[in-house]
Amino acid sequence: MSTIDPAAFRRFEHEGWQEIASRYHSGFAAVTTQSISALLDAAQVRPGLRVLDVACGPGYVTAAAGSRGAHAVGIDFSSEMIEEARGRYPGLEVREGDAEKLSFGDSEFAAVVSNFGMLHLGRPEIAIHESHRVLRPGGRVAFTVWDTPDKAVAFGIMISAIQKHGDLNVPIPPGPPFFRFSDPEECKRVLVAAGFRDPAVTHIPQVWHLESADALFDVMYHGSVRNAALLRAQKPEVLDRIRAEIRVGVDQHQNELPMPAVLATARKEN
Ligand SMILES: C[S@@+](CC[C@H](N)C(=O)[O-])C[C@H]1O[C@@H](n2cnc3c(N)ncnc32)[C@H](O)[C@@H]1O
Repeated sequence: MSTIDPAAFRRFEHEGWQEIASRYHSGFAAVTTQSISALLDAAQVRPGLRVLDVACGPGYVTAAAGSRGAHAVGIDFSSEMIEEARGRYPGLEVREGDAEKLSFGDSEFAAVVSNFGMLHLGRPEIAIHESHRVLRPGGRVAFTVWDTPDKAVAFGIMISAIQKHGDLNVPIPPGPPFFRFSDPEECKRVLVAAGFRDPAVTHIPQVWHLESADALFDVMYHGSVRNAALLRAQKPEVLDRIRAEIRVGVDQHQNELPMPAVLATARKEN
């Protein structure tokens, strides 16, 4: 098994997000935005509370928390994503920042949320510790990740297509397992290890309506980071077969792919 170099993984992710920021909205956002209200409910976001949205991307969650009357601030390590957020929601409080080294003081927030951010971090435990640090006593953390590929079908289709025609073990900077936090017990373990109480995990049913059977390959190839790198590293002669296999998989679901999310939440001790 290859050793993870968190700094190299971070560089790889950072370069990737800088490159695809402007394409994110037309790709994955259609499905990541489906988790927002459950995420904000889990964090008990209410009017007047100060809320931090970690790995905010184009600002969807930050804006939704603001619409609930919270004082929300979003951070993301990609300057291009921050530009996207500012363009999409003028006046939104967003800034560049690292999930693993938050530039906020202790106990500043009543809630810290992250929508599909955790699975992109080289050191997610550090990010959870940072969330705990910036939360006030009694404050809540909540994050979403994808369910396992047998349930979050877009990933299942892509992985089995690569397994069948290509190679899953291509040289890309190794990071923590993409589906690590799909396991509720792992979510709870990491939350408790960071000092959180009463961890709870639920599943959010979501469906990705794709415009065509080819859209999944295109979004993965042009609008993701780790999965795009996995596809781009395949030999050119097998890539067409992978694309065709993915098309068949999407077609079997009539372009409506189940994409459930795992939602983990916990509270900081009073
Ligand atoms: C899948 S997107 C999620 C965007 C958004 N939260 C949403 O709901 O759609 C992941 C985001 O994590 C950001 N990210 C990855 N690593 C990060 C880090 N170490 N610190 C801050 N942001 C990070 C990326 O730039 C990207 O915008």
